[in-house]
Amino acid sequence: MNVIRLRPVVFWRVVVFLTVCGLFRFVLYSPKTSQDDTLLSIENLGLDVSYGVEPYPTCTVERRNVVFIKNHKCGSDTATNVFHRFGLDRGLSFVLAVPGRMTLNWPYVIEPGTYRASKADGGGFNIMCEHQIYNERIISAIMPFNSEYTTILREPFSRFKSAFNFFGLEWRADIHNTKPMLTYLEDIPRYEIHIRSPSNTQSKKSCMGPGWTAGQNGMSLDLGFDNGFQLDVLDQTNNVTYIRQWLQKLQKRFGLVMIMEHFEESLVLLRRLMCWRLQDVLYLVRNVGHYNFKTLQLDTIDPKLMDNYRRFNQVDIVLYDLFNKTLWRRIELEGPGYADELRQFKGVMEKVRAFCYTVPPPSNDTQMVIPKSDWNEAFPVTGFYCLRMANRLYNDITYIYQKNPKKVRMSRQWDKVPGC
Ligand SMILES: *[C@@H]1O[C@H](CO)[C@@H](O)[C@H](O)[C@H]1NC(C)=O
Ligand SMILES: *[C@@H]1O[C@H](CO)[C@@H](O)[C@H](O)[C@H]1NC(C)=O
Ligand SMILES: *[C@@H]1O[C@H](CO)[C@@H](O)[C@H](O)[C@H]1NC(C)=O
Repeated sequence: MNVIRLRPVVFWRVVVFLTVCGLFRFVLYSPKTSQDDTLLSIENLGLDVSYGVEPYPTCTVERRNVVFIKNHKCGSDTATNVFHRFGLDRGLSFVLAVPGRMTLNWPYVIEPGTYRASKADGGGFNIMCEHQIYNERIISAIMPFNSEYTTILREPFSRFKSAFNFFGLEWRADIHNTKPMLTYLEDIPRYEIHIRSPSNTQSKKSCMGPGWTAGQNGMSLDLGFDNGFQLDVLDQTNNVTYIRQWLQKLQKRFGLVMIMEHFEESLVLLRRLMCWRLQDVLYLVRNVGHYNFKTLQLDTIDPKLMDNYRRFNQVDIVLYDLFNKTLWRRIELEGPGYADELRQFKGVMEKVRAFCYTVPPPSNDTQMVIPKSDWNEAFPVTGFYCLRMANRLYNDITYIYQKNPKKVRMSRQWDKVPGC
């Protein structure tokens, strides 16, 4: 029998070579470990909560150019009222949807012919705050270079429930029982394939187009995340590099990301960032949905279903976590005066609610005066002002537009969807 005999030095070389090969194999082909199942987080994406966060400069002149990305189901109607009121009171120019459309081409990016000015006399735009898909290149070509960028986010699971209800996911998924959301969470892939299938769009609500869903990372989609639904765009849902870069771009571009759960804290920051007056950021809650699974809490849902939800909506979850932390970082930077101002603002808001929500409501001319403080001059709140805060002001803006008509082309994207 022939035995291959190796000299000792060759033997050890072979041993080292095989060991290195083995290690490589382990690194490249290691079976899925728990590491692979880790959910995205600020830490494992290597994000810095303070990136792009600087104290707001002290200002003396109110800023009038602003982009507000009106994220769906995040209390954005309430916030939009603030921007509408501000612009209407000053006769500013809004970017509006074309007649017969409700959005700036959402869920597609803005294209020529899918928006118009609220004034005919040109002079550019001041405020962009209707539903749209964020795209920095497109927006910065429309809006003045010194525009501030803001948006609002909501705790992702509450937002998911709200979107599930509002966009009729149970209907799109053909779920017919008394617990549609739980049924959906039990087998997300199965229902999502059905929801996104081209043959399912025709008869379904709002004609979003094939591939669209309200079930996955809806906030991220509004903020320009490529989830692959636009046919010529790759789905980046599992691309960690893309997710990191996309979040960093938002960190850099947005002077303020408001958080619905901390709305008054956010409005005080908005006032400071924009150099507005306290009365400009008063609000009354608008467009609150009522649906039977709204009160389902995270901790009463089967952990398995919550896990399904979390894995499927990781991008939204990390987005929210990052900007909730950023909000608190900004608040720290604002220093001790911020707490005083917040206290004052909350006190004023309580008075405003008590006044506006009296039964019967105050007449248009009835007024209450908010006294002067360190943070505001004295100002009146009238019954009429309550109505303005509580109502949708879009029609007031389009009324101004109708007096100054300007020819525009209609949006084309939605017309491409068969049956719409
Ligand atoms: C992931 O994202 C990065 C950064 O945007 C991009 O360069 C890369 O091509 C993406 N990978 C895939 C597979 O799409
Ligand atoms: C947002 O951040 C604050 C401060 O860190 C924290 O107390 C709060 O629980 C966070 N909210 C959510 C919904 O995660
Ligand atoms: C208040 O003013 C609005 C707008 O001018 C008007 O439509 C409404 O009828 C008025 N309400 C009362 C009670 O006068």
